[in-house]
Amino acid sequence: MSDVANEPPAPSEEDRPVLTNRQGHPVYDNQNSRTVGDRGPATLENYQFLEKISHFDRERIPERVVHARGAVAFGHFEATGKWGDEPIEKYTRAKLFNTPGKKTDLAIRLSSVIGGRDSSEAARDPRGFAVKFYTEDGNWDLVGNNLAVFFIRDAIKFPDVIHSLKPDPVTFRQEPARIFDFMSQTPESMHMLVNLFSPRGIPANYRTMQGFGVNTYKWVNADGETVLVKYHWLPRAGVKSLTEEDAANIQATDLGHASKDLYEAIESGDYPQWDLYVQMMSDDDHPELDFDPLDDTKVWPENEFEPKLVGTMTLTANVTDHHNQNEQIAFGTGVLVDGLDFSDDKMLVGRTFSYSDTQRYRVGPNYLQLPVNSPKNARVSTNQRGGQMSYGVDLGEGQNPHVNYEPSTMGGLREAEYPTKDEQGPVISGRLTRARIPRTNDYTQAGQRYQLMEQWEKDDLVRNFVTLIGEATEQVQQRMVWHLLMADDELGLRVGEGLGITVDEVKDLPPLQSQTLSDDELQRLANLG
Ligand code: HEM
Repeated sequence: MSDVANEPPAPSEEDRPVLTNRQGHPVYDNQNSRTVGDRGPATLENYQFLEKISHFDRERIPERVVHARGAVAFGHFEATGKWGDEPIEKYTRAKLFNTPGKKTDLAIRLSSVIGGRDSSEAARDPRGFAVKFYTEDGNWDLVGNNLAVFFIRDAIKFPDVIHSLKPDPVTFRQEPARIFDFMSQTPESMHMLVNLFSPRGIPANYRTMQGFGVNTYKWVNADGETVLVKYHWLPRAGVKSLTEEDAANIQATDLGHASKDLYEAIESGDYPQWDLYVQMMSDDDHPELDFDPLDDTKVWPENEFEPKLVGTMTLTANVTDHHNQNEQIAFGTGVLVDGLDFSDDKMLVGRTFSYSDTQRYRVGPNYLQLPVNSPKNARVSTNQRGGQMSYGVDLGEGQNPHVNYEPSTMGGLREAEYPTKDEQGPVISGRLTRARIPRTNDYTQAGQRYQLMEQWEKDDLVRNFVTLIGEATEQVQQRMVWHLLMADDELGLRVGEGLGITVDEVKDLPPLQSQTLSDDELQRLANLG
């Protein structure tokens, strides 16, 4: 039975609440406009009609430029107090992690990326995995995806990668020819593509997908010492994916199967759970690795950097209103609490500007006053006043309401004492420049990912590549086969065979102008074919 029918029976006729307008005036007739005579014309002083229709005209806010469709739920995070077997405060002073059994309220939004607000949830697309922890030190947002890596490693390329994936600006159709045109010129995307076009690219449901922070962050302990970390959410329900065929069948009857599954599981008390694991490495460049730890197109090998449990998330409640709690919830990578910090990952730094910037436009300058966004377990006292839709004033307890500036001698707000020692992370110096990171290594992990797949996953990946790359121009097809050969012989050969492209046709292609191949990669190029 649908949810509307499950609501308690309506009270008796006289107990039903009376309809009013927003000024509190009772509405006597909600069926007929005010007109001169039965057949019109209508009058313009009809406040009730004007309020009703003009509010309706403004019901929608701009949808998110990415991740427009998603599902929100609420729950809590329970900390183990440890990183594996060690007390966690050795590495971070973040209070939400520090005590075994400590619970922190949270909101989560799980989403698809490219489609609009009403698009299919069975599309091949990364999935967003954004968690807002309402901690005692203010909010922490961990804004991740279900795939562990990303298409690009520098935020300046984000509008381009998204434009290539979004519908064509003329035909408004998503076009594989445009996608692979961009990707063929973007070698760092290969690792993500091998994930996205495998079955992992269509998660069966939100409850059965992983979440990854993707970017590299830092933890800071009480002495100010820092380490680099990556976050992983593992679903207790296991990881499940769909084939193209399964997805097409679901999509034929339901565009919102994943939101429905999540909502119904929570309503029935089958509360979804994920364990949070953290990988860690010392805070330096790690010249011994063949990749850069700040490169979000790479994973950290789990045998060298073991993910260790730090807590569990349980979702226990659904939204009570889609618009207020889903459309208006706002996550951002800049939203960190004491003990957690940014790394210099160039994507992370760019993201951190983008989120609050778009939210000031999409929701409004006072988006942080909305209940779903405000830090409900920490006190907010600011000197910010005014702005469109300002609702409250963040007065501190006992603050002189006349003093909305700092410093002051008349009872205004004061600065907090810095909790502990300043950060002791590495000293960084360098010339101002625009340059690629030195260790790009775009192919090794893409190849390893393919090699680790089960046979049916490899077959599915090859089939998807052949079908979709086949829609691109000959030049793009050849370049994609060249990249895939650089990643893994078998993968390149199989996709080439499906497209009717031989190794001989592509082996003499020069590297892209934007590429600097390492000695190993040059050797690999020489061995192609
Ligand atoms: C949403 C920008 C990379 C995960 C968004 C939004 C923007 C954005 C503008 C819409 C936010 C809103 O309207 O509230 C960027 C930029 C990126 C980037 C500039 C790269 C430079 C990533 C990466 C991940 C990610 C690497 C995954 C780790 C998400 C998620 C959401 C989102 C989960 C949806 C949040 C929600 O549910 O409200 N991003 N993004 N983004 N992004 Fe990114």
